[in-house]
Amino acid sequence: MSQSIIGAELPRIEGPDKLTGRARYAADFHPEGMTYAYGVYSTISSGTIVSIDTAQAMKCPGVIEIFHHDNFPKLHRSPGKFPEENVVDEKRIPFEDNTVHYAGQFVALVVADTFEHARAAAYKVKVDYDARAAAANLAQGIEANGSTHANDSERGDPEGAFESAAHRIDAVYTTPVETHNPMETHATVAQWVSGRLIVHESTQGVIFTRNTLSKVFDLDPSQLEVHADFIGSGFGGKLWVWPHCVATCAAARELGRPVQFVLPRAQMFTTVGHRPETRQHVRLAADDDGKLQSIRHETVNSSSPVGTVVEACGGSTEGLYDCANLRISHATAVTNRGTPTAMRAPGAGVGLFALESAMDELAQELGMDPLELRRKNFTAHDQGADLPYSSNHLLEAYDRASEAFGWDKRTPEVGSMRDGDKMVGWGMAACNWDAMRMPCDARVALRSDGTASIHCASQDIGTGTYTILAQIASHELGLPVDRIKVEIGDSTFPHGPLSGGSWATATLLPAVAGAARAAIAKLKEYAADPGGPLVGTKPKDLVYENGTVKNGDGKSVSIVDVLEAQGLVSAMGEAHTEGAPDSGYSFGAFGVHFVEVTWEPDIAHLAVTRVVSAIDAGQIINAKAARNQVEGAIVMGLGSALFETTEYDERNARPVNNNYAEYLVPVNADMPDIDVILLDHPDYELNEFGAKGIGEIGLTGMQAAVANAIHHATGKRVRDLPIMLDKLM
Ligand code: MOS
Repeated sequence: MSQSIIGAELPRIEGPDKLTGRARYAADFHPEGMTYAYGVYSTISSGTIVSIDTAQAMKCPGVIEIFHHDNFPKLHRSPGKFPEENVVDEKRIPFEDNTVHYAGQFVALVVADTFEHARAAAYKVKVDYDARAAAANLAQGIEANGSTHANDSERGDPEGAFESAAHRIDAVYTTPVETHNPMETHATVAQWVSGRLIVHESTQGVIFTRNTLSKVFDLDPSQLEVHADFIGSGFGGKLWVWPHCVATCAAARELGRPVQFVLPRAQMFTTVGHRPETRQHVRLAADDDGKLQSIRHETVNSSSPVGTVVEACGGSTEGLYDCANLRISHATAVTNRGTPTAMRAPGAGVGLFALESAMDELAQELGMDPLELRRKNFTAHDQGADLPYSSNHLLEAYDRASEAFGWDKRTPEVGSMRDGDKMVGWGMAACNWDAMRMPCDARVALRSDGTASIHCASQDIGTGTYTILAQIASHELGLPVDRIKVEIGDSTFPHGPLSGGSWATATLLPAVAGAARAAIAKLKEYAADPGGPLVGTKPKDLVYENGTVKNGDGKSVSIVDVLEAQGLVSAMGEAHTEGAPDSGYSFGAFGVHFVEVTWEPDIAHLAVTRVVSAIDAGQIINAKAARNQVEGAIVMGLGSALFETTEYDERNARPVNNNYAEYLVPVNADMPDIDVILLDHPDYELNEFGAKGIGEIGLTGMQAAVANAIHHATGKRVRDLPIMLDKLM
């Protein structure tokens, strides 16, 4: 059991709970005496609130209170230091003043006895504004507010090398605002019990939400509990605390009653972050053999008056290819949109659209196969960090995926491949993401009923964390998975990581394994202690195997025997593990996408028909969950390539397609045939299980692979996402 459980195609252990509705999400909690909140949102994008008239709304049935900037309690801004993760992602506390920074900003919060009453009353709140001109998009933001340099990195002489090179590409790529749209919208249930704040929040980080709220409400962290048993996904939008959570907690304190707030879908587009708009200037140069001589990747992204996010588009560019001369820079420009935030694979997610499109353009300029160009510039040394990669199997990924795809049958000329009346295009792009690991605590208990439990204040956002923790405990303890109870999503448990950055797996596994081994050590002590069934033996001479403890004479006792003999309910072990080791390596995950599109010019029909991807993400812990992550990321990348864009009215900066009908994402009819090859090479430099994490890498590079395939089919080089049909006609 202990070997085969790692990598197994184990179905989600929480699957039956989700299917039967037993799994409870934040909004499923209904404390006694609950009230319901509904927001009133700014209709202007910049200016001030002149007056708020709540008289009519207060007379509506069931209304308890209406909060706004004149009567909202004074709270504290959180410091916003990333290492402590004490961040309200929109740094302004809600209702702090009468300034409006973006459309959809909270201007009032109505609390009533039912959701319907709160909503009805919210529409009766009258707000008068003094509106100012708003910057509706990145171009307007740069014009009105200029751009602010964020960071840069340079090596060699990128400009000189570019000027003297034989082959050059100089192009600008743009990507739009994309909005996180997890099925479950943000939700908060807050109650205060004897000065303690208890919150059920749809969050990717229970500890970080707890830390943030402790700052905002000036509480000791021990006075708070944050729960997130189940999360209907997050994609980065639920990494940090947003205004609705702060407002709901404050309202609950003022009213002395629990308050529930569920964000309406339209407000998912305003007050809880988005992937910012980017403009990326890429310049590449190569010699006649295709060896890169110079890379420059300069990005400016849209930001907000109430919080700056740098979309690190050049992050992957620094280390993906061998090139002595490079310049990366990032800048931001303020627009009157809500604060952007991390969205799945922030930086590389759209950064590799630019870099990998430019690589395709360079291959064409060189008359070289685009895969050959990548192979030629492969590096096992991360020149950005000036460290060797602990492992990088990108060349094998190229080999395996290209073979499965049939890339050698590609004819390079644009429009040269056909399937009947359809034009066929084949494109490819590399993908890349960091392999990270954070500090972690975990507790494991072997129990007198023959089961084991895991406790850790991390959470499962739908990716399979519950399941892989059970697998790792099963591996260490030699107990079947169905005898292991995984308890996460509770900030009172030992500190676990954010579910973000694709680091949860690499972070959690060593801590849980360490705690399991500590529990075994404790069990051996109990067995050998006076009163124990193996008294007279030293704990170090005992052997634990598959739920039993044995001594040198071959006497074997079970976990239950040991605990019953001592009158104990459990043998408990705890472990603390550190972040990524400082071992002289750079850690990354690598991969490649090959994409086939068909284009029917007569009816302007574009289809992505086939995707073959190979991913090097270290040891795969659960092949089903891992493949599922990559497939989901490929679909999301396809959406980013072809459909996703949050449209803002240029005149007033209001998002206009703020709903599931008009914010386009791929549907079943858009699905290609997807083949995911998981290379499955353990990287033991990062952790003892060799796992790197797999949540984000599959998104990176997808847009470029699609754009490159479209170019091959149509001859149209589209440098701004999404690639809507009008750009092909
Ligand atoms: Mo991911 S953007 O770190 O949830």
